[in-house]
Amino acid sequence: MKTALITGADRGLGLALVREYLNLGYTVFAGRFLADFHLLDDLKKEWPDTLHPVQLDVESRASILAAAQEVAAITDHLDVFVSDAAYMGGPENSRVKGEMPIDESLLEKAVAVNALGALQCVEILLPLLRKGEEKRLCIVSSEVSSVTLMQRDGDFRYCMSKTALNVAVRMLQNTLASEGFTFRLYQPGWMRRQQPDGSFTQWNDCQINAADSAKAAIPIFTSRRPDDAYKLELVDYLGSVWPF
Ligand SMILES: NC(=O)c1ccc[n+]([C@@H]2O[C@H](COP(=O)([O-])OP(=O)(O)OC[C@H]3O[C@@H](n4cnc5c(N)ncnc54)[C@H](OP(=O)(O)O)[C@@H]3O)[C@@H](O)[C@H]2O)c1
Repeated sequence: MKTALITGADRGLGLALVREYLNLGYTVFAGRFLADFHLLDDLKKEWPDTLHPVQLDVESRASILAAAQEVAAITDHLDVFVSDAAYMGGPENSRVKGEMPIDESLLEKAVAVNALGALQCVEILLPLLRKGEEKRLCIVSSEVSSVTLMQRDGDFRYCMSKTALNVAVRMLQNTLASEGFTFRLYQPGWMRRQQPDGSFTQWNDCQINAADSAKAAIPIFTSRRPDDAYKLELVDYLGSVWPF
């Protein structure tokens, strides 16, 4: 049985990636975080045997530990881990041109969810991941993580947290590559946000749908490269490599 765990799977890219891995034949553990979204439940009706929604708040160590226990009751291994969950901020946290960063509590929250969340998940899930054959860790980052290319002003917290995430993944690779773990850092493009009824926000400046970005991610997430043991690339939905 091939198994994957995907965080932030209530909607958007996370939910679309759940669907892709189910179609590939994986048993998927889908991180549920939002109370008012029922799209995972709808998907569970289509895939009653191989989709397992699990409550998972990546900011909470207790929640990750409980999710790991739930997974371990069903399988003794995880082949793939996908970190998709992100705190992008609500209206109180919207991007203001020229805004200086400082709301320390929100900055801390962004780092806690977006950077530390993925790291804590890997740490806690490691015993299951070590028993997996694939040992593939896929992390959804962002174009804002590229110190070289990103153009944003304002929204310091989200941008800083995604850059910190990249460094965490680099260090995970340095630490775990000798055990056969390989990594993918993905830049999914500007996607429309998904609403509780499944519909999507207007296109505005968006470049791609979550479903299409998930389809584009799959060959990147499932491929093997000869330099996988030491090279880490930030790859976007078009397959282009970003400096970071
Ligand atoms: N959308 C874009 O244009 C874009 C561009 C570049 C990169 N990305 C990255 O792509 C990924 C998916 O984006 P998306 O647009 O599909 O986002 P999304 O619809 O907001 O999905 C992310 C999910 O993670 C949830 N989440 C927040 N805090 C969490 C926590 N502590 N534990 C578990 N889940 C939590 C979010 O819930 P809440 O809604 O309550 O926060 C949300 O349901 C994210 O990593 C994002 O940073 C997105």
